Amino acid sequence: MQSRPVGDVQVSAVGLGEMPLSIEGRPDERRSLATIHAALDAGVTLIDTANSYHLPPDEAGHGEELVARALAAYGGDTSAVLVATKGGMTRTPDGGWGTDGRPDYLKRCCEESLKRLGVEAIGLYQHHRPDPDVPYAESIGAIRDLLDAGKILRAGISNATPEHIREANEVLGGRLVSVQNRFSPVFRSSEPELALCDSMGLTFLAYSPLGGIGRAADLGTRVARFAEVARSHGVSPQRVALAWMLAKSPVLVPIPGSTRPETVTDSAQAPELALSAAELARLDTA
Ligand SMILES: NC(=O)c1ccc[n+]([C@@H]2O[C@H](COP(=O)([O-])OP(=O)(O)OC[C@H]3O[C@@H](n4cnc5c(N)ncnc54)[C@H](OP(=O)(O)O)[C@@H]3O)[C@@H](O)[C@H]2O)c1
Repeated sequence: MQSRPVGDVQVSAVGLGEMPLSIEGRPDERRSLATIHAALDAGVTLIDTANSYHLPPDEAGHGEELVARALAAYGGDTSAVLVATKGGMTRTPDGGWGTDGRPDYLKRCCEESLKRLGVEAIGLYQHHRPDPDVPYAESIGAIRDLLDAGKILRAGISNATPEHIREANEVLGGRLVSVQNRFSPVFRSSEPELALCDSMGLTFLAYSPLGGIGRAADLGTRVARFAEVARSHGVSPQRVALAWMLAKSPVLVPIPGSTRPETVTDSAQAPELALSAAELARLDTA
């Protein structure tokens, strides 16, 4: 598969989002492992997870432990795989999501993630979401301390505005490598952040690239032009959506979630799908 940079390393142009394997509606362990293994078979070398990908209220780290088990059980070489995890969000007892950006909390979460992943340093650690109750520079200051201490090798942020991106990069002393924001055919309001990442040379990890869990299957009905282009190429509308966003910028890496080997394998072929300039223009205005 084609590759794209995340800081000093190259990863597959399409990653795997682990969230649907850990939250409500997740499959059993056997299918979860088969899904991650299918991603590795297809050449995926970026797996995104978070300490908050688990069922509420208190099963923290399910996703990280699953990824660690999947990598350990895989027969092939996994040395090129970059595991990206996050801290700063929580599950609430009612099944919702909360934020906790206190520096001490973030540092504690990172220590726990290190143990679950079974590594000495985390490949990419991302601050999950700004906490309205904690100054952003304080939360990012904790990420800077983790970098300085060698607990994490690379630092990223998520759910960020252009102001957050500039501020985080400043607090990190120019060492920010990635921004993970929502971006899909049906949700395009992260275009300013994508443009800024492009100009700063930061990786833009597009989350929920197919519209999100429970909505990805009917992408082609919701945005009919993606289905039209898909029909003319004999591929899925989801693969067209990923190819369309890959063409937007060389720094963009979509991280579609999956609960089945079939969908992972399909998504991983998106970088090989060449769309014409006319098709891309039609999809831009869909
Ligand atoms: N930073 C954040 O705040 C944040 C928020 C949300 C998500 N994320 C990250 O982004 C990742 C992706 O987002 P998401 O899981 O919410 O939504 P998504 O990727 O838009 O949609 C996930 C769904 O897409 C389906 N799918 C994947 N490839 C497909 C294909 N080729 N054809 C048909 N269907 C396909 C999967 O179906 P099957 O179940 O049938 O396989 C899965 O249920 C997450 O896993 C997580 O790592 C981050």
